[in-house]
Amino acid sequence: MTLISKDINKASELLKQEELVSIPTETVYGLAGNIFSEKAIHRIFEMKKRPLYNPLIVHIHAMEQLEELSSHIPEKAKLLADAFWPGELTLVLPKDVKIPDLITANKPTVALRMPRHQLVQDLLKQIDFPIAAPSANPFGCISPTNAKRVKDYFDGDLKMVLDGGDCTSGIESTIVGFNGEKAILYRLGSISKKQIEAVIGPIAELTKSEKTPNAPGMLLKHYSPRTKTILTEDVSSILDKNPNKRIGIICLTSDLESSNSIEIEELSKSSDLNEAAKNLYEVMHRLDHLNLDLIIAKKLPNEGIGKAINDRLERASAD
Ligand code: TXA
Ligand code: MG
Repeated sequence: MTLISKDINKASELLKQEELVSIPTETVYGLAGNIFSEKAIHRIFEMKKRPLYNPLIVHIHAMEQLEELSSHIPEKAKLLADAFWPGELTLVLPKDVKIPDLITANKPTVALRMPRHQLVQDLLKQIDFPIAAPSANPFGCISPTNAKRVKDYFDGDLKMVLDGGDCTSGIESTIVGFNGEKAILYRLGSISKKQIEAVIGPIAELTKSEKTPNAPGMLLKHYSPRTKTILTEDVSSILDKNPNKRIGIICLTSDLESSNSIEIEELSKSSDLNEAAKNLYEVMHRLDHLNLDLIIAKKLPNEGIGKAINDRLERASAD
């Protein structure tokens, strides 16, 4: 049985014993282990069934660790860290030799993030090593935004989920990497491109062909329900093409009504995109547990965090 608890002492004991603990962050729950324990890190890959070529994010709690763990910090990285840490930002930087190659999948760079969630900050202060944590879902599946979903995925295999309640942002961190001093947006996330650009000016995005080798988490099919999912601008036409089916609909707001065969999930009754991001994964989990024939997701306004939500829905619906 996996323990769900707020006991930080217990969580830090387990981490010190090279065990894994699921941690809450403001984005999604992570599956965490000591970056210096080969045993713990192997276990992360094994438990998630994650390929070894996909590197992990290292979580820290103090600015000094940025200098300790990377060999060069571009000026723009400093500006971004000052603006968004602690928070929903991950920086990919040239790595210090201390970082084990297993964490970075033999890449010369390391992904660093300082989460804001109070429980994980307190936890990190109690241990004297950074923790590596991918999202706490089996590879390719929907990320968890509460302790129960983590337990559902790993019950029995995982000793503990540190319960920090519902994640307040709800989608993964925004990842920024560098080519020399030039910043590149690797993954859209809780912080919008516009917010990043307000701090460092225009930022390039990865082209489609660059995405896979640089950020394997950007794999086309990802964040996926088991139920077949279609992303569309036009829900009615997909409904018309699928008579007599049990269907779930994900949308920002809806003027349709739920019925016996149609389950409607509104991401935000007040059309608030931040609220929609917070609710997205839980809504996907809920619909996926209803054994429906089909999930239809309606594209959100492609602005601000709506872009990151559409990105997740696109991957969830990829073949
Ligand atoms: O919000 C988040 O970022 C959550 C919480 C738990 O911190 N974590 C998360 O981790 O989303 P994960 O492993 O699911 O996604 C990390 C992404 C992957 O796409 C991985 O390929 C990319 O970061 N990544 C990690 N290290 C990298 C590196 N050195 N270069 C390029 N991409 C890297
Ligand atoms: Mg993930």
